[in-house]
Amino acid sequence: MKKTDEFMILNEEDWSFAGEDTKYLTHGFHPYPARMIPQIANRLITRYSKPGDLVLDPFCGSGGVLVEARLLGRNSVGIDINPLAIIIARAKTTPINPKLILSSWRELKEKIGEDIRSLRFREFDVEPLRIPNISYWFKPQVAKELTIIRHFLDGVEDSDLYHFFATCFSVTVREVSNLRTDEFKIYRLPPEKLEKHNPNVFQIFVENVEERIRRMAEFYGLAPKDVACDVLLGDSRKLPLKNGSVDLVVTSPPYGDSRTTVAYGQFSKFSSLWLGLDENIVTNVDKISLGGGLRKFKNLPSETLHTTIEEISRRSKERARETLWYFTDLFECLEQLHGALRRGGYCCFVVGNRTVRRVQVPTDKIIVELGENLGFKHITTIYRRIPSKRMPWENAPENIPGERCKTISGESIVILAC
Ligand SMILES: C[S@@+](CC[C@H](N)C(=O)[O-])C[C@H]1O[C@@H](n2cnc3c(N)ncnc32)[C@H](O)[C@@H]1O
Repeated sequence: MKKTDEFMILNEEDWSFAGEDTKYLTHGFHPYPARMIPQIANRLITRYSKPGDLVLDPFCGSGGVLVEARLLGRNSVGIDINPLAIIIARAKTTPINPKLILSSWRELKEKIGEDIRSLRFREFDVEPLRIPNISYWFKPQVAKELTIIRHFLDGVEDSDLYHFFATCFSVTVREVSNLRTDEFKIYRLPPEKLEKHNPNVFQIFVENVEERIRRMAEFYGLAPKDVACDVLLGDSRKLPLKNGSVDLVVTSPPYGDSRTTVAYGQFSKFSSLWLGLDENIVTNVDKISLGGGLRKFKNLPSETLHTTIEEISRRSKERARETLWYFTDLFECLEQLHGALRRGGYCCFVVGNRTVRRVQVPTDKIIVELGENLGFKHITTIYRRIPSKRMPWENAPENIPGERCKTISGESIVILAC
């Protein structure tokens, strides 16, 4: 064993899971920024809980932890502040009999196909859905065809089927928009690509649905049906759970600072608007998320946090203040988690140590110190290298050309016990 940054690297066990398929079964239903890879969730749930236990992911995002919880026969609750995440997580975690999907799909496909053909033969026209700047982000024919699909989706009454088709629609919206799909932030395709971009919306939607029906059939065959999974729209600073009701927490909190790291709101914006989700929430997801806005500061019990904030403050008072908002919020979540967990239960955080103005923020160590103050016991911290990732490996924090700074290339798995 080697010692790094005061924490042990457990060399005996490989936590990188390099080369493994991270999109098996329903995990590949929908892209989502900073997804937790299923192999990590699987190992943590297997190790720290038993069948029938209740697993909580208070930042469930697209629901990867919850999928693994179901596959391992654990009950689960997922909470997220982003309404699109709730739809995706419900679609991924609910086993639906593929025969049921197929019979609904045959009808839906026929009706949508008929209207799109009529539109293409100019037998009628369609008023596209009202979405801000629609013509900048969607070509006119694309917007009309998406409007037809959305119309028929609204007629799907069964909520499980609705979440399934809505997830397929959301992926389609991303693929047919004028967005660069290799980015989680909102950038338009460059002009030369945009000119050639004439996607066949109906065909892409059909392929997306049929591919996911196959994946669902496999998931349905493997997933235990006698366990519950609740996915709730909410804020983990106020958990709607009874004290002591949770056996295990497995989660990856947001990095904080949506401007320079991951912006879940930006990522979800167009799909959410096309699905008719609450515009007020959709356009403010990043502001209402952890670290997104001004909070009342508490004196947080972490020496490491104080020295880090002082160092950032010497470079930028504003960035120091924002970093503190994030940890103030995170501390509130930790308090809630400590209440919700039963004594003897475990809490596993998968976190990245980001840099702010070139100062490394040791989020893993800060979580340990904040947690210990609340009565958690630190069991271990495991360091893992991320084999590939979508966020740039380097960024220029002050936007000075030629100056680069490493972004997050490794993660820590912090394990606390209640
Ligand atoms: C790192 S992502 C989780 C990704 C997830 N593990 C997955 O595999 O898809 C963090 C999530 O925290 C959510 N979030 C941010 N602030 C929150 C809050 N106050 N309460 C609940 N969820 C929040 C974001 O919307 C985002 O989905």
